[in-house]
This record gives sequence, structure tokens and C-alpha cells, in this order.
Amino acid sequence: MATKLLASALRQTLNKKTTSSSLHRCLSTAAALTTAPPSQNDEAMTIKGLKISARPLYLDMQATSPVDPRVLDAMLPYYLARYGNPHSRTHLYGWESDQAVETARSQIADLIGASPKEIVFTSGATESNNISVKGVMKFYKEKKRHVVTTQTEHKCVLDSCRHLQQEGFEVTYLPVGNDGIVDLEKLRGSIRPDTGLVSVMAVNNEIGVIQPMEEIGKICREFNVPFHTDAAQALGKIPVDVDRWNVSLMSLSGHKIYGPKGVGALYMRRRPRIRVEAQMNGGWTREGDKERDSAYAISGGNGRGMRAGEEGDGERLLNGVRAKLDGVVVNGSVERRYAGNLNLSFAYVEGESLLMGLKDVAVSSGSACTSASLEPSYVLRALGVDEDMAHTSIRFGIGRFTTEEEIDRAVELTVQQVDKLREMSPLYEMVKEGIDIKQIQWSQH
Ligand SMILES: Cc1ncc(COP(=O)(O)O)c(C=O)c1O
Repeated sequence: MATKLLASALRQTLNKKTTSSSLHRCLSTAAALTTAPPSQNDEAMTIKGLKISARPLYLDMQATSPVDPRVLDAMLPYYLARYGNPHSRTHLYGWESDQAVETARSQIADLIGASPKEIVFTSGATESNNISVKGVMKFYKEKKRHVVTTQTEHKCVLDSCRHLQQEGFEVTYLPVGNDGIVDLEKLRGSIRPDTGLVSVMAVNNEIGVIQPMEEIGKICREFNVPFHTDAAQALGKIPVDVDRWNVSLMSLSGHKIYGPKGVGALYMRRRPRIRVEAQMNGGWTREGDKERDSAYAISGGNGRGMRAGEEGDGERLLNGVRAKLDGVVVNGSVERRYAGNLNLSFAYVEGESLLMGLKDVAVSSGSACTSASLEPSYVLRALGVDEDMAHTSIRFGIGRFTTEEEIDRAVELTVQQVDKLREMSPLYEMVKEGIDIKQIQWSQH
């Protein structure tokens, strides 16, 4: 499909008369692709029983983001002409790939205030999180048997902790407040002499709240406990600095920040040195500095994609929706949040119907990993959100390339759909008549 698209874009570009703007496009294969008009294949299709005539607006940037054309341009040579294995020490192909990997490593290190020697490439934040949580605990297992984390971490951190529990380690899953923020005193109180790791994510993937990273880092320093953070949703969105946060390990992901899918990075502090037990043999050790071969081609693009401070405009969406609808609740702290991740609940509507009705906007009902289940999100439950409201939650993920027109269109479609569902809702009618539905005693049959 990608080859077809690429071929069709190139054909269209080459068939055009060479004006200055088409010449500009010729220079960038990736830009040519993004500006190409939709091909016939895009016009109508049926997926999962739904006839789709146009691509929906994409507002699901926390699930994944499009590759920035500049990143794709930086990557393509390493697929086509410079395809050497960076570990090949005997020829130009290997040397130039090795150089590309080192450039990417330095670019990523620069972004987080680290040394390039502290960056290793992985297949994504899932792998980085697994290495951090399981790798640290297994390395120090003789003395350290306890991990502190929070109830709202990404599933791969929680599952790594469960795995450790099955092996006899103990884990404290800290609760969070209604705003999704961890209570620092509870965190302090949970640290024990045998605590080997504190793992708290920087920006939550479902609700966008930002944890007090510096304060957590200070507590970890006070108790001399290594601090790991899953910063997959933080890099490129909020300032990230490994020294200011006092982290020993940090997980990063390419595809959340306009980089390639299947490539991530792990920061591992050298002073004081953090050690991990390798989770995979033969391809990954920091000591040997041998990243998996598959990472090299695409890591060339990663350093290019991870640029800090480009925020999505969630304010515009929130103000737009609130100007026309009542009963809209922001899940998680309003003050401490990344603006491009807006998780809203709509009172008196049925969640599934809302999502189905919003088929012209690609959004998610919580994280991509859990949105297939009808269970309300465990993150919202940890915040104490009512089950009804948790069921109607929608995460709007706004990104670097989202336009104001797209946000306004998303507002219009959301308002239309919520209005339509509320018109059919007896509960909403009662609320409009001034009845306090919380006081009603429903009879059960
Ligand atoms: C906070 C967080 N951590 C980890 C991951 C997993 O990232 P990856 O897809 O790079 O393995 C995600 C993405 O779903 C995420 O949002």
C-alpha cells in the first residue's frame, strides 16, 4: 500500500509541469505524499460494515501520530541507498549507518539534557518500560524487593509490576486524587528500605495530566531510590530534563511524536550508574552498546521528529464545546495538563452511541489499548469518576498538524451528536425540568 501510494504520488509529481512549487515538492518525497490528492481508492470503502466515503478527522494523537514529512525525508535514504548494518565495521555502508545512529542518539540526548552515551534504542516505550521495571528489580533483587508505582500508569508498566509480583516482589500501586495527580506525602510514606524503584509517568496518556516530576525526583533523591518515568506522552510536549527531574531511567517512543513506529529509546543514567538485567539476549546490552539492528534505519528519523514545545490547542476545542453544551466535564486536573490531550465526559448521553455517532472524527474512548473493551477506563475509575460519566468519556488528541478548522469541525460534530442523544434521553428531559435525578429512588425488577 505504501509503495502504491509512493508510486502514485511520484507519478503525479512527475507528470506535473515543473513550476517552482512543484519543483519544491519534487525535492521532498514525503511532502509530495502528504500534498497528493486522494487517489480513487480513497473515495469509498466499507470497513466493519460501515460505508465510509471520506476519511474522518484524526484527533487521536495519543494513540499514534503521523510521521512528520521532514522525518520521513530524513529516513528514506536509509531504506533505499544507505542500508548498511551499523555494526558492519568493514565498509562504507556500515560506517554511514553507524554515523546516522550516533546523530540520532545525540539529537535525542540533547532534547532531554542527557549524554548520548545514556541513550539506547528500543522498539518503543513498551520495551523501555519493561526493561526499566523488570530489569532494575531483577538486577538488584538480592537487596531490593519493592516497587512503588501509581494506579494510572500505562498498562505495560502495570503488567510488568504484576509479573514481578508473581515472582515474589511487592508492589505499591499509589492512588491518585480526583485530579489524577499523585499525593506526594503518600508517595513518601510508601518508600521502604527495600524499595528498588519508583515508577511514575510524566504525562498520562488517557487524561493528559502532568505529574509533579521535580518533587517526585526530590523525594527519590532523599531516599536514594532510582526513579523511572514513562515519558512517551511528555517528550515534545512539555519541557523534559533528566537532571531537573532526577530520573535514572526514562522511556520514550517515536510514533507518539511524529517519528517512526516501532522505534523508541531508553535513557539510562550513568552517574550514578543504573544497572538492569537484560530482558532479551544477544541484541541488547548497554555495556556492549549493541542496539537491535532493525532500529538503525528508522532511528535516523527519530531525532528529527522529537522537537519540544509544539502543543495541540485543546483550549479551543473545550471552549467551543462548552459554549454550546452544558454537563461537560474535563477528566483530570484542568491546571496541570498537556493541552493537546483533552478527556471529556458528557452527562446524560450513552457513551457507545456517542462514539458510534462521531464516526466522522477519529477519537478514542480512553487509551487505545483499553478502548476495545466496554469496561470504563481504569484510569478514570482511579480518579473516582462515576461509572456513567466514565462510560461517556472521549479523548480528543490534538497535534502539531491539526488545524483550527478541524478543531471547529470536531466541536460542531460533537455538539450535534450530544444534542441528538440528549433529545432522546428521558433523564436529560427530567434534568431540564429541574428534577434532581440523584434523589430519585429507582425500583429494581
Ligand atoms: C504513556 C505510554 N506509555 C507507553 C506506551 C507504549 O508505547 P509504544 O507503542 O511505543 O510501545 C504508550 C502508547 O500507547 C503510552 O501512551
